[in-house]
This record gives sequence, structure tokens and C-alpha cells, in this order.
Amino acid sequence: MSETMPRADLRERPRRLRTRDALRRLVREARLYPEMFVAPLFVRPGRGVREPISSLPGQMRLSPDELVREVDGLADLGIRAVLLFGVPEAKDPEGSGAYADDGIVQETVRLLRRGSRELVIMTDVCLCAYTDHGHCGIVTGGQVDNDATLGLLARTAASHAASGADVVAPSAMMDGQVAAIREALDASGFSQVGVMAYAAKYASAFYGPFREAAGSSPQFGDRRTYQMDPANVREALREIALDIEQGADIVMVKPAHAYLDVIRAAREAVDLPIAAYHVSGEYAMLKAAAQLGWVEERRAMLEVLTAIRRAGADILITYAAADAARWLAEGTGG
Ligand code: PBG
Repeated sequence: MSETMPRADLRERPRRLRTRDALRRLVREARLYPEMFVAPLFVRPGRGVREPISSLPGQMRLSPDELVREVDGLADLGIRAVLLFGVPEAKDPEGSGAYADDGIVQETVRLLRRGSRELVIMTDVCLCAYTDHGHCGIVTGGQVDNDATLGLLARTAASHAASGADVVAPSAMMDGQVAAIREALDASGFSQVGVMAYAAKYASAFYGPFREAAGSSPQFGDRRTYQMDPANVREALREIALDIEQGADIVMVKPAHAYLDVIRAAREAVDLPIAAYHVSGEYAMLKAAAQLGWVEERRAMLEVLTAIRRAGADILITYAAADAARWLAEGTGG
């Protein structure tokens, strides 16, 4: 029999469903859509400021007025959720800017709420951008003091809620932080405000560009006594279970690209919505390779975001949110 003859016994031909774009889209399993994206935004004091972040091409530190414009632009792309990070003017050992009523995040949330936007405002709850030592909690005797930090995280969360945040997102990786925050929210009349817990947050090298953006690098030591060891997945499930017990409404795995197995394990273990944070270094790596012409930016970015979705994430926090929404709308999603 000649090799060019059709093989009658070959009945299964997966290629049949790949013959044209519309057919491939029809049978696509994991899809991306703008409503699942959360755009992380950095806010700094001032007016009319759009300060590019060199380590995060395309991202900027925005003054509150510019951030409002940015949010309206995102809404035009179908993105209705943002995660706010403050870059304050001053820092101190207690990170008091994090829970100040006139703090940069609090002011920005109030400004966003002034309009009638259909917008989910999420706020990062941590001290690292506000402490002069750059750690996520209070430092006592050279150690990050878990229990001394809880009250301040709770205060920060309550002040964000009082300003109008919908969801607070504790990222300090202190034990008991979700319970402390839930309690404080309920006690101050914010039982409707949700908690998105950075539940499985690893001590990752991929936060480098973020720390440059937020000026939040630890001034001594590192975060390995509170963030998780990248080698562990069972421990991630334990962290997630603890946060759910303590009242989390959404649980997060972070980073995302290098932790697809953790997202999958979380998806199989829990019914709550799962968020995945495609972090600064993961984004910056793709941007850098694209700038060098080594990968095609659109295809590479959408492939990674699709993989995070395929692994089981419901909510995708990514610096590529706006670009991805634009590409999807243009139908260039591959
Ligand atoms: C604050 C916080 C960090 C990130 C989110 N919240 C930095 C860190 O833990 O050092 C990282 C986000 C990113 O890299 O995109 N603790």
C-alpha cells in the first residue's frame, strides 16, 4: 500500500475540528473575556501625574485624577474591576499611611465612588509600601511580628471599606489576617464588604518589578518567614482552607504562570471563586522578550492568560488586562 493512500482505519481525526478559525473557536474549552480581568493600578499623590514604571512597560504610577481617567478607559474595554496599590509620600516603622483616613488609597477610593461607575473596587491590604523597613508587618527585635500586625491590617481594611471599597485583599501573609479583617469589617458595619485572600502567596522572585513600582523592597532580610516556599503545594491547600475558615470570599493563588498546578489543585479542592495573580515579573518577562523580538507579544500573552484560565482560575489579575481586552475585541485572540 502506498504511503499517500488514505488510511481507512484512521477514524479518529482530531484535525477535523481545527480546519478553520470559526470551528476552532466553536470547540474552544478555556476562554478569556474582559469581565474576568482585574487591572492592578498604582496610585501616588499629585495631580495630572502619569509616571511610567520602567520595570513594567505600559504601566504607570497615576495620581488619583489620572487613575479615574484610566478606570473609565478600562470600562470602555469591558474591564470593571481594579485592584489598587498605594505609593505613599512618606513611610514610617508602623506603616501609618496604610490606615490613615486621608491615605492615598482611601482618597482615591472616595474619588472613584463619587461617580456612578459600575466598578468593583478592590484594595490591596498590606503594610510593605508604607513601612520604612519595607516588610509587610510590624518589626519587633528584627522579626516580623505576626500578632502585632493583625490589628493594623484590620484597621487598614476597615478604612478602605469606609472609603467605599467593595473587596479588600490582604496580602501580608500574616496568620489569622483574614479573621482579624472579617471581624473588623463586621464590627464597623461593613458586613457586605468582601475579602479576597492572598491565600497561597509564595516568596517569589517574580515580584521584583512590583517592588520597584511600589518602592516596597524589604530593607533587610527577605519575606521567606511569612510568604510560602515555592516548592510546596499541599501547604497551599492548607493556607486556602484556613482562609476560607476565617471568612474569605475569594481565594487567590500568586504568582500564576509558574504555579498552574497550584491553581488546578485549588480548583479541585474548593468551590469558592479562585483568583490568580499574573504578577509583575511574569508580565515583565514577556514584555522584555517581546521587545527583543523573541516572542510575539499578543500570542504569548494570550497563551499564558489562557493557560491560567485553563488551570482553573475564575478571576485573572493581570497588568495585561487592557491589552488583552483590546486584542480579544479585535478578534486577534488566535
Ligand atoms: C504586597 C504585595 C506584593 C505584590 C502584591 N501585593 C509584593 C510583595 O509581596 O513583595 C506583588 C504583585 C506583583 O508582583 O505584581 N505585599
